[in-house]
Amino acid sequence: MTKQKIVVFTGAGISAESGIKTFRDSDGLWEEYNINDVATPQAWAKNRELVLEFYNKRRKQTQEAQPNLAHKALKELEKKYDVTIITQNIDDLHERAGSKKVVHLHGEINKARSTLDETLVYKIKGTEIKLGEKCERGSQLRPHIVWFGEQVPMMDVAYKMAAEADIFIVVGTSLVVYPAAGILNYVAPTVPKYMIDPSDVNVSGIKNLTIIKQKASVGLPQLVEELMK
Ligand code: OAD
Repeated sequence: MTKQKIVVFTGAGISAESGIKTFRDSDGLWEEYNINDVATPQAWAKNRELVLEFYNKRRKQTQEAQPNLAHKALKELEKKYDVTIITQNIDDLHERAGSKKVVHLHGEINKARSTLDETLVYKIKGTEIKLGEKCERGSQLRPHIVWFGEQVPMMDVAYKMAAEADIFIVVGTSLVVYPAAGILNYVAPTVPKYMIDPSDVNVSGIKNLTIIKQKASVGLPQLVEELMK
């Protein structure tokens, strides 16, 4: 028998309990930094050192973090379902928990890419991209991150996956950053949907949605236990 397809859409909240800060909570990253200084092509044009330093810090923090119970619960789901994770996160905690199919919409912190040719992508050794570090064509390496104002190359692939889901789960995202946040509109109205977040998230108009107002490490293992029955 073919397995049912579960598509999981994750955001910063799923990694919060691994010690990685979210963006928009009261102690979030965008309280500490201005998006325009560190996460836009304009920031990169103005001050490469500052941008590199921002992501070097994020990388070190990610490498020190461990997957939590929520990441692990998603791995567990693979025993019964065909699971695809579409994440806005740049960390690799889903992969380190063992999840097999992970699509990163906003890039990956452990990769660098050429500023000249976006197809030249490299795994970063250690924690830093340094000013002066170049790709094989001689241009400065930049973080392999989708910045504000840039296209999201994996978006169409993700919409298609969402449209094919039999069950759709959303975890730890404020659903305010588009186009990613629009993904729920691509899931069929009849498909059961679950949203796990300790705060209220605006999901008006979404049909067949069960809201689980819990932290990911509590709500997700409980939901997975239900779905495994
Ligand atoms: P946000 O910081 O906007 O939202 C985090 C969500 O996680 C909020 O709804 C919180 O209530 C929730 N949350 C906090 N702790 C949680 C926990 N323990 N368990 C479950 N949920 C929890 O983060 P994102 O929605 O991921 O993009 O942000 C989207 C994009 O904006 C990011 O990918 C990033 C950012 O700017 C780029 O940098 C391009």
